[in-house]
Amino acid sequence: MSLITNKLTELRDWVDDRFPLMSLWDDHLAKYYAPKNFNFWYYFGALSLVVFVIQVLTGIFLVMNYKPDATTAFGSVEYIMRDVDWGWLIRYLHSTGASAFFIVIYLHMMRALLYGSFKQPRELVWILGMCLYLALMAEAFMGYLLPWGQMSFWGAQVIISLFGAIPVIGGTLAEWIRGDYVVSDITLNRFFSLHVIALPFAIAGLVFLHIIALHEVGSNNPDGVEIKKKKDENGKPLDGIPFHPYYTVKDLVGLTVFLIIFSAVVFFGPEMGGYFLEANNFIPANPMSTPQHIAPVWYFTPYYSILRANTINFLWIDAKVWGVVFMGLGVLSFFFLPWLDRSPVKSIRYRGGLYKTALTIFILCFLILGYLGVQPPTAARTLVAQVCTVIYFLFFLLMPIYTKLDKTKPVPERVTM
Ligand code: HEM
Repeated sequence: MSLITNKLTELRDWVDDRFPLMSLWDDHLAKYYAPKNFNFWYYFGALSLVVFVIQVLTGIFLVMNYKPDATTAFGSVEYIMRDVDWGWLIRYLHSTGASAFFIVIYLHMMRALLYGSFKQPRELVWILGMCLYLALMAEAFMGYLLPWGQMSFWGAQVIISLFGAIPVIGGTLAEWIRGDYVVSDITLNRFFSLHVIALPFAIAGLVFLHIIALHEVGSNNPDGVEIKKKKDENGKPLDGIPFHPYYTVKDLVGLTVFLIIFSAVVFFGPEMGGYFLEANNFIPANPMSTPQHIAPVWYFTPYYSILRANTINFLWIDAKVWGVVFMGLGVLSFFFLPWLDRSPVKSIRYRGGLYKTALTIFILCFLILGYLGVQPPTAARTLVAQVCTVIYFLFFLLMPIYTKLDKTKPVPERVTM
């Protein structure tokens, strides 16, 4: 045993003389001091990483049998599901993984809203996170075209034609994205290339930058106290513990629970009642027959609702154009949070009633918009979506005012347990 250990240590030292192995390990794990009061909400960064790895690994095996060609794509997915050994499992892991990715990302973002993790000095961590969110949306949107089912085709048709609503350049832009006058084999090929190569690389690069930026400033925590301000005689934060082994072990617990829930969905309900895989996508794409009700997958529906809520032509501009503008602003508004929030405290624990109320109403509106986006529109639903859209934007627009007026509580010097 000791012979093997000695040989492994020798190998490690050999590598370490040629590559900063141990200093990387120390800087980012063994001697990265994280606040000792992380709670439930701090599982989701590590889980996002895990889901990314699941998506890449299952994606590699899917590509071995998938055909990015409009005449064979749908059939190749059926072939994976029925004839390829374990193909059904790989495909369901990947399709469930897409929804799981957005669930953990939304919870990860929610944590930032609860504890003010986007505030100074973590603005760049937040901005890189938002870039990741945009890249993930593009990745999911392009991936959804690949099975070449009815919803793949018509979903892409609807969303890309929205760009056509932009004045002057819209038509050319939509054509440039599709590579054709309609969604076609050309579109499928380029979406395949972007989904499999360009975006995963971009996401991996952004994750790297996101974590490096975080480790430069250090992690926030549920109290919003900067642990670097109180250090012991050796320069170690008094309220910090080494990430490894403390949080690697804690994250393993979160990972186990996540994998139990994830595999329950994969094995017992991979379609999730049509929310993860829509019924219409089990029908091959048919450009001559439009499905009655076209809706994107659940993670896009809050923004889709905002799009549909714009029904008024205003300033000689078509309601559809306003819809596109507000849908875009709906996503982009999050980028500005670090500068919109004027509160002197970070964590919701020490904020007053104004922020707590505003955040609760905002989350309710986001969920209602998400629900309405999967439903066919009626007059009453459109009205509710309009009210929620107004509240959604007021949350951001009024933030500088209500966060300044809010009566905050004194923040403790050290973290609380
Ligand atoms: C592929 C996607 C992502 C991955 C793999 C990822 C990974 C991580 C990891 C490992 C951490 C440290 C552990 C933790 O605090 O939970 C973290 C922290 C953070 N992430 Fe992400 N992240 C992703 C997307 C995002 C997005 C979309 C946002 C927001 C727009 C975001 C905002 C943040 C913030 C603000 C922190 C610091 C939190 C704190 O210290 O309290 N991340 N991320």
